[in-house]
Amino acid sequence: MTETQKSATLTLNGESYELPIFSPTAGPDVVDIRKLYAQAGVFTYDPGFTSTASCDSTITYIDGDKGELLHRGYPIDQLASKSHYLEVCYLLLYGELPTAAQLEDFETRVTRHTMVHEQMHNFFRGFRRDAHPMATLVGVVGAMSAFYHDSLDVSDPWQREVAAVRLIAKLPTIAAMAYKYSVGQPFVYPRNDLDYAANFLHMCFSVPAEEYHVNPILSRAMDRILTLHADHEQNASTSTVRLASSSGANPFACIAAGIACLWGPAHGGANQACLEMLKEIGTVDRIPEYIARAKDKNDPFRLMGFGHRVYKNTDPRAKVLKQSADEVLELLGVEDNPLLQVAKELEQTALNDPYFIEKKLFPNVDFYSGIILEAMGFPTSMFTPIFALSRTVGWISQWKEMIADPQNKIGRPRQLYLGETKRDYVDIEQR
Ligand code: ACO
Repeated sequence: MTETQKSATLTLNGESYELPIFSPTAGPDVVDIRKLYAQAGVFTYDPGFTSTASCDSTITYIDGDKGELLHRGYPIDQLASKSHYLEVCYLLLYGELPTAAQLEDFETRVTRHTMVHEQMHNFFRGFRRDAHPMATLVGVVGAMSAFYHDSLDVSDPWQREVAAVRLIAKLPTIAAMAYKYSVGQPFVYPRNDLDYAANFLHMCFSVPAEEYHVNPILSRAMDRILTLHADHEQNASTSTVRLASSSGANPFACIAAGIACLWGPAHGGANQACLEMLKEIGTVDRIPEYIARAKDKNDPFRLMGFGHRVYKNTDPRAKVLKQSADEVLELLGVEDNPLLQVAKELEQTALNDPYFIEKKLFPNVDFYSGIILEAMGFPTSMFTPIFALSRTVGWISQWKEMIADPQNKIGRPRQLYLGETKRDYVDIEQR
């Protein structure tokens, strides 16, 4: 990070303060306010972080106006069409595309870690069968720190590396176990001869009584969904992981915190909420009613899978997923799927409506992913766990980057206090 010749001047109570400016390799300049409180005795105020860069990073870049998403400089559409999930994981974690030998070594390392400690099976059995799989995921991932004591020391780069590989390898197994437990079927062990996406489908859908063959087109679609969700710079769950980790918490605890944040319907929970909304709309003739509700300020209803804090033109991931939805539904012979018809019509109606045009609201990644996942046979409750397992590599890459940074310090925001000022305690008889 290099300071430029440029600076900003803040005038406050007749005093001027020079604030240094940093220029990024892409994106807007950043005004450095770190010394502002010490020098001028004021805080800045930015709830929701709409104008705040919380860290520096070299992993992912988003240009919201252009609708561009780059991982280590590579556009997401190129990665989605030419690469595959584990190669993208390598890219996010280590900064460069791997050579064939590096990729083979990485795949072997991930594959060797796909099984979970056998005692974890008992842990699952403590949950109610009707628990949401995200609730199970938060608990089990947090509990990994009770099982893998040799990768908890965040000051040891080797242990950090082992924790990263363990998390990427075991999340599909844990998510599949949460699903199997919820439907009352036996847990299925991973198969290391299958690729990452195919193995996940195998662990979710095979049963001991029958042979299960993973359809390569479905595993390719699964791999694409994983690739498209792999990282998204400083979103709410990633910032949660970074904040949790700033105190020195262990990696499993930090990723569990990220999963908890992802669950919310304004973030990763939107894919479940979106499909439920499409089902509720049901038929294209009801679309105008829901568009009117989304525009009504007195109605809390929002069009799920629409809008994004950063993208104000298009979400490049949604474009790829729309195409995947067509392919998968055609393959499964359900191209006239009523939900897809509702989704496409809803998208068209919203994109031509002045409210959505003016507010720059476009379909986001969650708009089409649910349709594909449901066609594959997943219940809606599994949509967000699948998002969580794909995002684990992003969280862990950002976590590793943060810990390796010598400037890393505990995150401690300040506040604009609007409560009572100091007052004396009143005895209960006098209140
Ligand atoms: N439907 C209807 N109106 C909307 C929607 C929507 N989906 N999204 C935003 N708006 C309106 C807001 O009401 C607001 O209107 P106003 O200016 O008149 O008050 C304006 O557009 C700006 O919206 P904000 O909520 O201020 O924007 P913010 O950046 O804070 O929120 C968010 C972004 C949370 C994604 C929002 O668009 C939303 O709730 N979308 C639906 C949920 C969703 O799909 N989330 C997934 C996000 S992608 C991801 O996490 C993977």
